[in-house]
Amino acid sequence: MKDTFYITTPIYYPSDKLHIGNTYCTVAVDVMARYKRLRGYDVKFLTGTDDHGQKIERVAEAAGVTPIEYVDRIVDMTKKLWKTMNCAYDVFMRTTEPFHIKACQRLFKTLFDKGDIYKGHYEGLYCVQCETFFTKTQAPDNLCADCGRPLETVREESYFFRQSKYQDQLLKHIEDNPDFIRPESRKNEMVSFIKSGLEDVAVSRTTFKWGIPVGFDEGHVIYVWFDALPNYVTALGLFGEDDSEYKKYWPADVHMVGKDILRFHTILWPTMLMALGEPLPKTVFGTGWLLIDGAKMSKSKGNVVDPEILVEKYGVDAVRYFLMREVVMGQDGNYTEEALASRINADLANDLGNLLSRAAGMIDKYFGGTLPAEHKATSFDESLINTAGQTIVKSAAAMDRIAFSEALTEIWTMVRRANKYVDETEPWTLFRNGDKTALAGALYNLAEILRLSAILISPVMPDTSAEIFRQLGITDDSLKTWNSLSFGGLPKSITIVKGAAMFPRIDLKAAFGEPDKPAEPNADVKTEAKAAPAVKTENYIGIEDFAKLELRVGIVKSCEKVSEKLLKSQIEIGGETRQILSGIAERFTPEDMIGKAVVVVTNLKPIKLRGHMSEGMILAAGEGEGLRLVTADGADSGAKVK
Ligand code: MSP
Repeated sequence: MKDTFYITTPIYYPSDKLHIGNTYCTVAVDVMARYKRLRGYDVKFLTGTDDHGQKIERVAEAAGVTPIEYVDRIVDMTKKLWKTMNCAYDVFMRTTEPFHIKACQRLFKTLFDKGDIYKGHYEGLYCVQCETFFTKTQAPDNLCADCGRPLETVREESYFFRQSKYQDQLLKHIEDNPDFIRPESRKNEMVSFIKSGLEDVAVSRTTFKWGIPVGFDEGHVIYVWFDALPNYVTALGLFGEDDSEYKKYWPADVHMVGKDILRFHTILWPTMLMALGEPLPKTVFGTGWLLIDGAKMSKSKGNVVDPEILVEKYGVDAVRYFLMREVVMGQDGNYTEEALASRINADLANDLGNLLSRAAGMIDKYFGGTLPAEHKATSFDESLINTAGQTIVKSAAAMDRIAFSEALTEIWTMVRRANKYVDETEPWTLFRNGDKTALAGALYNLAEILRLSAILISPVMPDTSAEIFRQLGITDDSLKTWNSLSFGGLPKSITIVKGAAMFPRIDLKAAFGEPDKPAEPNADVKTEAKAAPAVKTENYIGIEDFAKLELRVGIVKSCEKVSEKLLKSQIEIGGETRQILSGIAERFTPEDMIGKAVVVVTNLKPIKLRGHMSEGMILAAGEGEGLRLVTADGADSGAKVK
């Protein structure tokens, strides 16, 4: 019987379309799942959506639909996204599934009967966005410690889970199981949090409806995290009708989660399992965030990147490669489209794509597409073959450690070594000298490196891997397996199949302009005096075009001059602070700005001006001395301008 490997993504809130930040985590899990399948494991890959909670109830209400209508639509989009991203999950879990609802109620009742859930009163603070409770000491300024939004005061009757009872048992488990929380740096954070003292957790809510009813007490719905975390086991049938899958796959090998939700997974979830007497997951791996100009990508900041657009432009494998290569697992990584395009050019077009087109091109040119079976070694072979051997061992070790970027770096050492081998052996000279057996040997070695590369990259770039096999004419599946990963397995005589270049180069200059060129500071608001143009009545736009603009009232909290023309303001917009640069320094001083209720375009793409990030635009009217700020005195901060 095969060994099992159970890996999960977080279940995403279907409150909005997912962005490349969420996608990053699912791609990482897909890569690990594919790798383990390649290694012969019986893999279960679980993903899904966290359908309940106050956040979803509110967005649905704002959209004028029922919560289930709302989430159904986003779930469809999410499934489509995973298809686009080539994420081959085994189970798509939804917390609104009837079997999950029933199982959660059973779980809740079990803990209640055992005395680990009791009834009380909750009084404290709540972040609806993060669905997290805070005590006054945890959030002295009434702001969410995770997302910075203002907290709401909650006073309600509540059931509590006796988390505090399991504090010592949890600390011991973490100590005895060094791989339980990874990476190490995050483990230390969690341990000090636990040592600061665990409190019991409110696990039911009465002030909204969109959740799983507790079942035995009218009006109480289960707190969304207490309904979400058990998805990892209810999906396998625990507390259901048939728990054979649970027996087979649990405990999970890896829960991959973002660092912002690591606490739920390494404190609340394990203590729930301890209370239930069930084994704990083997590893909870906290990934970093994908940042845009140093800030977490999020819908509310208006800086999200749509993965489907990127895939359409650059192809799915390029995006998957970029995410896994550029962002070191466990650390934050910066996203820019230019960095993605540069990676495509350097690693995919220049190194891998080039190696394939050179090898296939020369087999075609010198041998009409079919390599003869008689080969002779060159003096450069040994070093190439050694590199291949080391790459296999090192990249596998890195994959086992969930160090994808390191694994790819190792694989690329081999690919680059093979490109160097072309320069060393000079196949064109061998051809000119009529040394056909040495030429066939050299080209065979290149094809073999490509075959090994195709196997090793297949978890990250499944389509590219298949395309390499196709162009090399490899149809025998036994040559694509992990077990075939040793140099020399490729039959001596192969017939290539001509194909297009895999990764055409991107003209970076045309796409992104001159590198490091300072941006024009006053592109948004002009300050020279000019006659105002007449109001035009042609070029009408529809209301739907206007609706694309997100205009909000913001209060200027602080402001400083950063150049002759530029002011840098910190503007509070509905609890969130944005930095905005405006080309208005010739007309306004920082003192003029402070305290003003200005109108801000909040969904303008962030841009760097003179080395400072600007996340929006302040509206102003007029020119030169006649320049005036568009203000909304007396309006609430964050109010929409319609
Ligand atoms: N529903 C909960 C998870 C419950 S799991 C039992 C939730 N959902 S979420 O949709 O808000 O976030 C899901 C995941 O997306 C989290 O792991 C979060 O860290 C991740 N990310 C959201 N933005 C991200 C980036 N910008 N970069 C990387 N990951 C990001 O929390």
